[in-house]
Amino acid sequence: MQVVHTGADWNKYWLESIKNDKSIGFVPTMGALHEGHMDLVRKAKAESEIVVVSIFVNPTQFNSLEDFNNYPSTIDEDLDKLKNEHVDFVFIPNADSIYIEKPKLSINFGDIETVLEGAFRPGHFNGVGIVVSKLFNIIKPHKAFFGQKDLQQTGIIRRLVKDLSMDVQLVIVPTRREEDGLAMSSRNVRLSPEEREHALILINSLAKAKQELLASKPWFEVQNQIKYDFEEMPSASLEYFELIHPESFASYPDFDASQKSSICVAAYLGKIRLIDNLPIIP
Ligand code: PAJ
Repeated sequence: MQVVHTGADWNKYWLESIKNDKSIGFVPTMGALHEGHMDLVRKAKAESEIVVVSIFVNPTQFNSLEDFNNYPSTIDEDLDKLKNEHVDFVFIPNADSIYIEKPKLSINFGDIETVLEGAFRPGHFNGVGIVVSKLFNIIKPHKAFFGQKDLQQTGIIRRLVKDLSMDVQLVIVPTRREEDGLAMSSRNVRLSPEEREHALILINSLAKAKQELLASKPWFEVQNQIKYDFEEMPSASLEYFELIHPESFASYPDFDASQKSSICVAAYLGKIRLIDNLPIIP
């Protein structure tokens, strides 16, 4: 496994890979790798001849300096995990090489960024869009692997690839969960034991809502009950709980079994913000 730090370095390996007609699979991450990330890596290994994983905690997609400064970093463990999966290359750029200067370009994703994560995290998707574009331009992968855990992020990347005619195929990998159902996230390690227990309210609410919708309970009743459940739990604070179309991300007023739909949730457990989603009709 080779660790590379600059685009120029990677270009030498890239040229060799292309000459040998090898397909390149790319998994962008911010490190603090868990089994959710590793599922993406395994999928990339299965579908590509050369696998590149990037580790870069992108400052421009964070809304709070506190969240950025406290983002977990476990680089030695990360490298061990990637080596165990026989990853070919790990790209670890420093911030200076990615942001030689502050980008003047900003990306407006339209309606999709005015809802859910876009509404609660202004500028977040612009930061994601710019850094993923940069990483795609540097790595030049044939396929790129993203997690369904960050559903709206997959919509943003799909839009980027489509609107800019990027020659990369996106592969979306299902959400990996802890045994009790909590979606794996690098931020989970920052939960106190009590918050970790209470964090199950996210997946439990999603599962309960799904069951009730499929049993024909009206969405406004389902949603109100979930809001009430969150109010009853003092350590949790709900940001949104929405029934949406999983590609346009527009909210539905009510459930329609003939339409694709997912439920998306975001909530704070203490100071830690968690998100999750569950497909109802995939
Ligand atoms: P990060 O949060 O490190 O996630 C990297 C990739 O792992 C993303 O595609 C994310 O959706 C996926 N992932 C995270 N938790 C997962 C889980 N429990 N199951 C399956 N996949 C999961 O997402 C980012 O980094 C950044 O925004 C990035 C795309 C790297 C741009 O900076």
